[in-house]
Amino acid sequence: MQVDTLILGAGAAGLFAAGPVARAGKRVLVVDHARAPGEKIRISGGGRCNFTNLHADPSAYLSANPHFCKSALARYTQWDFIDLVGRHGIAWHEKTLGQLFCDDSARQIVDMLRAEMAPAELWLSTALRDLSHGPDGFAATLDRDGRHVAVTARNLVVATGGKSIPKMGATGLAYDIARQFGLAVTDTRPGLVPFTFPDGRFKPLAGVALPARLSCDGTSFDEALLFTHRGLSGPAVLQVSSYWREGREIAVNLLPDRDPLDWLRAERQAAGRRQLGTVLGQALPARLVPHLGLPTDSRLADLSDKALAALCPALADWRLVPAGTEGYRTAEVTLGGIDTAGLSSRTMEATACPGLFFIGEAVDVTGWLGGYNFQWAWSSAHAAATALATRP
Ligand code: FDA
Repeated sequence: MQVDTLILGAGAAGLFAAGPVARAGKRVLVVDHARAPGEKIRISGGGRCNFTNLHADPSAYLSANPHFCKSALARYTQWDFIDLVGRHGIAWHEKTLGQLFCDDSARQIVDMLRAEMAPAELWLSTALRDLSHGPDGFAATLDRDGRHVAVTARNLVVATGGKSIPKMGATGLAYDIARQFGLAVTDTRPGLVPFTFPDGRFKPLAGVALPARLSCDGTSFDEALLFTHRGLSGPAVLQVSSYWREGREIAVNLLPDRDPLDWLRAERQAAGRRQLGTVLGQALPARLVPHLGLPTDSRLADLSDKALAALCPALADWRLVPAGTEGYRTAEVTLGGIDTAGLSSRTMEATACPGLFFIGEAVDVTGWLGGYNFQWAWSSAHAAATALATRP
């Protein structure tokens, strides 16, 4: 079988790339080893898919080259995707911080992508057995229903994602293909992932959640913090996890909306007979207060300015060194990946291997939590698809 473009991976990026190329009259085949396309889309955003973010721009992405993502994000923006969603009659809402979700179901996004990809062919439950490159392009041997099928393709788009959640079919195939064709792969590690503290120090607090500011490596996020049996989770934790490296500390501000010293002094002036623990309980979850190691039985009036100031680090600059993360088992994304130095930022094509493209999470571009990663999948897919659709 001969096609113009073979796309490996029927996830967010692969499905989205297929349509424009196929509509330009090229024969496009999308293959995936999973039984259903877009499985991560289906489970994303608690089943409602946080499909983009109103504030998506290059500053929300991590990469060894922070400039690489600019071109693709500028040429296919969140507004373009919102427009597409609207044209398919999918109702959506902003939840918080610019995060857009389907009103009904993430399946609507998968259905939209399936409709948009027509007339490309989609082969599911199909594995790649062998891949080579010759004068006629790429030669792939696919394993489809136990039968070997030889496919030649002028162009190959690798959209097989990262290593996150192997149970859902994630593999390192994109990195293997990159290495096979001489492209570099930067170190990969789990991102948007909970922290673990195996000493069990947070077990008594499991289930406690509060708004907090978490900082790591000079970057801060104001979102919810959740204590769990295993350690720390919640959006603020997932966000800073992408900036964390083993052995480093994170800083937790439990009172991000106020200056703790000014607040405690004002409370002391208003009613100094109250105990510190009672006052802290007005601003923090009651179960958390005794855990902070503060003199909660002391009356505010008995605490000098100096004594109050000494309490502030525990409230606004609590330093913790996570033992580790939950790893790829639960990580929403993979940091690192195909080194962007080997790719064109305009087309996602490998400069050393014309006709070979890498898009989506496989590339060393990783977004914050909140719809940014799907936006990268759409934008990078669009960059490759535009180049392929207009190629003679
Ligand atoms: P994606 O992972 O979507 O697709 C890769 C495809 O390749 C899969 O279909 C897989 O089966 C296939 N494949 C892999 N190896 C293969 C092989 N060897 N042979 C054949 N096929 C192979 N992002 C966001 O912006 N908003 C959100 O709400 C969420 N929510 C979310 C929840 C959860 C639980 C996770 C794990 C992740 C998210 N994300 C997210 C991240 C988002 O899902 C992710 O960034 C995109 O799906 C990446 O799109 P890709 O197409 O690059 O990979």
